[in-house]
Amino acid sequence: MTTFNINGQIHTVDAPPDMPLLWVLRDLVGLTGTKFGCGIAQCGACTVHLDGVAVRSCVLPAAAVGNRKITTIEAVGTTPAGQKVQQAWRQLDVVQCGYCQSGQVMSAASLLTSNPNPTDADIDAAMAGNICRCGTYNRIRAAIKQAAKGV
Ligand code: FES
Ligand code: FES
Repeated sequence: MTTFNINGQIHTVDAPPDMPLLWVLRDLVGLTGTKFGCGIAQCGACTVHLDGVAVRSCVLPAAAVGNRKITTIEAVGTTPAGQKVQQAWRQLDVVQCGYCQSGQVMSAASLLTSNPNPTDADIDAAMAGNICRCGTYNRIRAAIKQAAKGV
């Protein structure tokens, strides 16, 4: 059995050491807001935070998490940056189909936590690994800038 600190709660589950964290979250804990896209760290749909830093949960083995605090899309709205990001996302109506968006929000919140006033280049660098098949990139960038004004 392995213990994880997820969204402020302790979960002890029967996770094989090499099971990706994404599977732990979705299949063992039932937090399905984090999405599976590519499974090879190329799309960003599975992004969560470990101690506030964005990571790709599809390629992170359960055994590598340790005692770091995991935050998912279900709870990022309780963090200062996550709250601002979600507010800006709603105000600018960023979402189209929505599939990529939990990952986009997680990456944006991690960016604003480490860099409250990102330049366009900072935003492009931080968000480059989050793919959106619907092409919402312009609204994502605008929403990050709007969130930055309030973070
Ligand atoms: S599912 Fe993890 S990066 Fe695509
Ligand atoms: S909103 Fe549809 S993939 Fe991004």
